[in-house]
Amino acid sequence: MDEFKGKTAVVTGGASGIGRAMADRFATAGMNIVIGDVEPAALEKVLGEFKAAGVKAVGLRTDVSKEADVKALADKTLEAFGGAHIVCNNAGVGISGFAWEISDEDWRWVMGVNLWGVIYGIRHFVPIMIKGGEGHIVNTASMAGLTTGPGMSPYFVTKHGVVALSEAIHQELMMAQANIGVSVLCPAWVNTRIGESDRNRPGGPVDETTLDPVRQAMQTAIRGALSEGLSPDEVAEMVFQAVVNKTFYILPHAHWKDLIQERMENIIHQRTPVPREFRMK
Ligand SMILES: NC(=O)c1ccc[n+]([C@@H]2O[C@H](COP(=O)([O-])OP(=O)(O)OC[C@H]3O[C@@H](n4cnc5c(N)ncnc54)[C@H](O)[C@@H]3O)[C@@H](O)[C@H]2O)c1
Repeated sequence: MDEFKGKTAVVTGGASGIGRAMADRFATAGMNIVIGDVEPAALEKVLGEFKAAGVKAVGLRTDVSKEADVKALADKTLEAFGGAHIVCNNAGVGISGFAWEISDEDWRWVMGVNLWGVIYGIRHFVPIMIKGGEGHIVNTASMAGLTTGPGMSPYFVTKHGVVALSEAIHQELMMAQANIGVSVLCPAWVNTRIGESDRNRPGGPVDETTLDPVRQAMQTAIRGALSEGLSPDEVAEMVFQAVVNKTFYILPHAHWKDLIQERMENIIHQRTPVPREFRMK
């Protein structure tokens, strides 16, 4: 896409963090904004701020893991602005722990938001974009979609799924001769509220006082890394440039590329993956 003014950007998980920053960046480019987010108060706040700044913005309380909610968001987008040009399937959550100890509910929660949320976004927005004749999809995966490690298996599983889905739909859209670009956003640490994802957990926030020491240490390490991460605004600018330049893989943390290379070489040379702490000894 070359021209943004007066066109429409849809962002799921747009009431906080990276989603909010992407919405801001697209608004700065003169676009109408549609926000879908599961948190009603945060959604109202962001819509109020957009309206006060003179941005044409609408929103809907949306749980992206529910297909009916994502369809309703697409209907609302059409009703408000008649089309969708940039669609950011961005809402995401994480939980730490060993794979065998994470409950069914938590596995389903993370899979529902991070993977099914993107699948539903594609299903309900791509036909609108094809009809409109142009567009760009930005799926938020993570560096966790290109590498693996211990302690967050549902997150790794879903983010690898988002990368695979993005690669597949990009090729399908080319085959369909649709004028729709795709980017997959794969950041490492960004300073957002993802470490408090359990604020939206169906079973309520995790009682961290009951966690075993290993999981407590994981939580502390994750929060520390997040607080030192890139700012959401820096990431949003990279996303904007990727849409302009039609860049497929968005890798905001260039110095993490060696981990991607290491994983690929492990696969090619049939080396067993080992956690970092063990390797450093
Ligand atoms: N922060 C990081 O370090 C980092 C790194 C890589 C990828 N990501 C990804 O970036 C995306 C945005 O996360 P963030 O870091 O900005 O976190 P965040 O918690 O600040 O924002 C996430 C937003 O998603 C919303 N959300 C949660 N569950 C939802 C649901 N079921 N339906 C709709 N909205 C829902 C939240 O209310 C929140 O507004 C996620 O997909 C995350 O996995 C984050």
